[in-house]
Amino acid sequence: MFHLFAKLGSYNIVIIVLLCLNSRLQKFHRDLPPTPVFAYGASRRGATVPGPTIEALQGIDTYVTWKNFLPSKHILPWDPTIPTAIPATKTGIPTVVHLHGGMHEPANDGNANSWFTAGFKEKGPDWSKRTYHYNNNQQPGSLWYHDHAMGLTRVNLLAGLIGAYVIRHPEVEGPLELPHGEEFDRPLIVFDRSFRKDGSIYMNSTGNNPSIHPQWQPEYFGDLIIVNGKAWPKMTVRRRKYRLRIINASNARFFRLFFTNGLEFIHVASDSTYLVEPVVTNETLLAPSEIADVVVDFSKSKTDEAVLANDAPYPYPSGDPVNELNGRVMKFTIKKEREVDTWRVPDKLIQYPSPDLSSATKTRYIAMYEYTSDTDEPTHLYINGKPYEAPATETPKAGTSEIWNVINLTEDNHPMHIHLAVFTVLDQTELVKAEEFKACMSKMNDAIKCQISKHARGKKLRVAAHEKGWKNVYKMTPGYVTRILVRFSYIHSNTSYSFDPTGMPGYVYHCHVSNYIAFPFMFGGYIFKYKT
Ligand code: C2O
Repeated sequence: MFHLFAKLGSYNIVIIVLLCLNSRLQKFHRDLPPTPVFAYGASRRGATVPGPTIEALQGIDTYVTWKNFLPSKHILPWDPTIPTAIPATKTGIPTVVHLHGGMHEPANDGNANSWFTAGFKEKGPDWSKRTYHYNNNQQPGSLWYHDHAMGLTRVNLLAGLIGAYVIRHPEVEGPLELPHGEEFDRPLIVFDRSFRKDGSIYMNSTGNNPSIHPQWQPEYFGDLIIVNGKAWPKMTVRRRKYRLRIINASNARFFRLFFTNGLEFIHVASDSTYLVEPVVTNETLLAPSEIADVVVDFSKSKTDEAVLANDAPYPYPSGDPVNELNGRVMKFTIKKEREVDTWRVPDKLIQYPSPDLSSATKTRYIAMYEYTSDTDEPTHLYINGKPYEAPATETPKAGTSEIWNVINLTEDNHPMHIHLAVFTVLDQTELVKAEEFKACMSKMNDAIKCQISKHARGKKLRVAAHEKGWKNVYKMTPGYVTRILVRFSYIHSNTSYSFDPTGMPGYVYHCHVSNYIAFPFMFGGYIFKYKT
C-alpha cells in the first residue's frame, strides 16, 4: 500500500495533501477482469482501493483538500426515493469525507450534508470548506477515512472510497518497541464484495420492496473477502512479530477472525486507544468499522502457512454460516529461517485515564426501535421515536462524560459509532419481559416512564478483556441494554473550540452498517450538538 508520510523528527511541519477521488479500474484477483471502482489517490492516476494510508503525527496539523473527479454517473445502483444527496442539476456524484475516529471541528468532520460534486460545482446545505484541517490533537492510533454522503454512503463505500489513517506519537510509542516501520506495521483493510463475470462489482439493483424503494436494501453481503484491495491475498512474512491494524470496512459483514494454525492475536489497542496491557486471544469479532490492532508473532508458527479465516454468520449473529468463499480472508506464508526479533510486546502499554463513573454529568437512555408500517417494507429505525430530521436530541458539553444506556429493541446487532467521542463499555444486560417494555416504548418513547430499571435485570454478557478500553464503536446486542461511559472530545483539552454550535450541523452517532450511515430512516444520525 502507498503511504503519505509525515517526516518523523521535524516537529513543526504542516502536512498538506491533495486527495483526488477518481474512477478507475482495479484488479482484485488474477482471475477477475479489471473492476471499475471509485478510489482515493494523491494523483488522479495513482488512485487505489483502499486509498493511500495517511500517516500523521500527534499534534501536527494535516490539511487535506479532497477533490472530486468522480464521473457524472454512479457505477452502482442507488435509490433516489430515500433521503439522498441529489444535486439540483442531477449530474455528478455527491461525496464527502469523514475521518472516522478523528476529533475535529464539525466543519472538518464530513457531515452527511456537507457533500460536493466534481469541481465543487454543487454543494450540500452544510458544506462550508474545500480544505479539511485535522489537528491530530488526540491519542495515537488507527483511524480510517470514508465517504459519508447522505443516502449514498453504502454505494460510495462499496465502490471503493475507503482508506486508512494512522496517528503516531513517537515519544510515547517509541519506547514500547512494538513492531514498527512499513514492513512490520501494516493496516489490513478487510471487506466483502461480489463481482460479475466482467469484473464489475455486483450489487442487487432491485430493492427489498421495489414498489416503494426501487433499489434500497438494508444490508450488503459479498461473496469474496478482499484485503488491501486483493481477493484472498497471500503475504510472505518473516519469523518475527508483525503489527496488523485490522479494519473491518464491510458494509454489513461481521468478521470473527482466527488463524487456522492456532496463531494468536496479541491485542495492543482498540479502535481508539492503546490498552493498558496486551490481551491474548485466539479469535476476534469485528463489527463493521471496528478495528483490531494486534501483534501476531509468526515465530510461534508450527507450520509454514497460516490462513486467516472467518466464521461469523451473516447477518450477525443469526444469519447464514460462512461458506468456502467468504470463510477465508488471506494466507500468510512464513519463511523458514529463524530470526532475531528486536520487536517486543511490553507487559504495560499506555495507561489512559480509566473510566470514572462519578465524573458523568448526565445519564441518557437511547432506545433503538423499529417501526414497521403495513406498506413500507424498509422498517424505520428511530432513536427514542425520533427521525434524523428531528432537532438535535443530545447536547453534551465538550470534555464532559455521560452514561448512555443504549437499548436495542431490534432483531439485529448494531455497531454503534459516536463521532467526536470515545467510550468504554460498562456492561450489557438482557431485558426481561422485553415485549412489555417494547409495547410501552411504542406508545410513550420514554425509557424511564416505561420502567427500564425493572426490565434491565436479565443475564449479563461478558465484555471481552480486549474490548474494555476506550473505543468509538461497539456491538449493541439485540434485546440488551448496553451501558457505556461516553467521554466527549477525550484528550483534547488543549484545543479550544470556537465554532458556532447553532449554525453547524454538529455531530452524529449512528449504526455503522453502512447502508444505515447517512440514511435518515435508520440510525442515520441523531445529531447532537454541544456547546463549550
Ligand atoms: Cu465511520 Cu459516521 O462514520
